[in-house]
Amino acid sequence: MSDRSSGALICLRQVTKVYRTFAGAVEALRGADLTIETGEFVALFGRSGAGKSTLINLVTGIDRPSGGSIEIGGQRLEALSEEQLTRWRGRKAGVVFQSFQLMPTLTCAQNVMLPMDFAGRYVTPQAQYARARSLLEALEIEEQADKRPADVSGGQRQRVAIARALANDPIFIAADEPTGSLDSVTAQAIVAHFVKLAAAGTTILLATHDPELAARATRIVRIEDGRIVEPERP
Ligand SMILES: Nc1ncnc2c1ncn2[C@@H]1O[C@H](COP(=O)(O)OP(=O)(O)OP(=O)(O)O)[C@@H](O)[C@H]1O
Ligand SMILES: [Mg+2]
Repeated sequence: MSDRSSGALICLRQVTKVYRTFAGAVEALRGADLTIETGEFVALFGRSGAGKSTLINLVTGIDRPSGGSIEIGGQRLEALSEEQLTRWRGRKAGVVFQSFQLMPTLTCAQNVMLPMDFAGRYVTPQAQYARARSLLEALEIEEQADKRPADVSGGQRQRVAIARALANDPIFIAADEPTGSLDSVTAQAIVAHFVKLAAAGTTILLATHDPELAARATRIVRIEDGRIVEPERP
């Protein structure tokens, strides 16, 4: 681990991202600096187009930056090959999307079990199912374990997606507008689960444009026009 990032779990330095489109280049991130300590619950707060999803996709290794460096848990992501990055994401990053992205043909429990094959820690089907049930129980939806996603509510689907993100004991959770497709009461209930996870020590980066939801985090980091504008704490 380098000196600059010691103590920090997630460290972005001068990260840029340029998308090439037919209409020309779009600078989605213009030198983003961000440091997140272990156990922090950070809300990445900014208006539509500010660069929230772009940043989430970079810290989860779904996409690569155009410039700058990203170091997570002592690992520089730019040093990893595509294959290594995919494996790193499967083991270290828990990702939650607005649209849940559950497999419709699998039960809720099976969706939570799916990433476990990847990490090789929960090997037998029995161990995987027991782990899935305990994660679903922690999210208070164990009764839904054997139903398919289509047969549970939107808020329950998102809780299944959070349980899936936790399946491999990731070193952090990144959630991109995880309540964006939910009503406000359900959204608050989902954020309450993030608050609970954070209190238990899970590091969380939550992208949102909703100030009420952002206020539930332990720190709000504001992003504007591809730059982190909130001054970083000393
Ligand atoms: N795949 C892409 N190709 C080209 N431009 C993109 C792509 N993805 C995002 N952009 C552009 O990059 C900028 C940042 O987009 P991003 O999706 O990161 O914003 P956001 O903060 O997540 O917005 P929202 O709140 O609407 O989800 C925008 O100008 C957007 O149009
Ligand atoms: Mg977005």
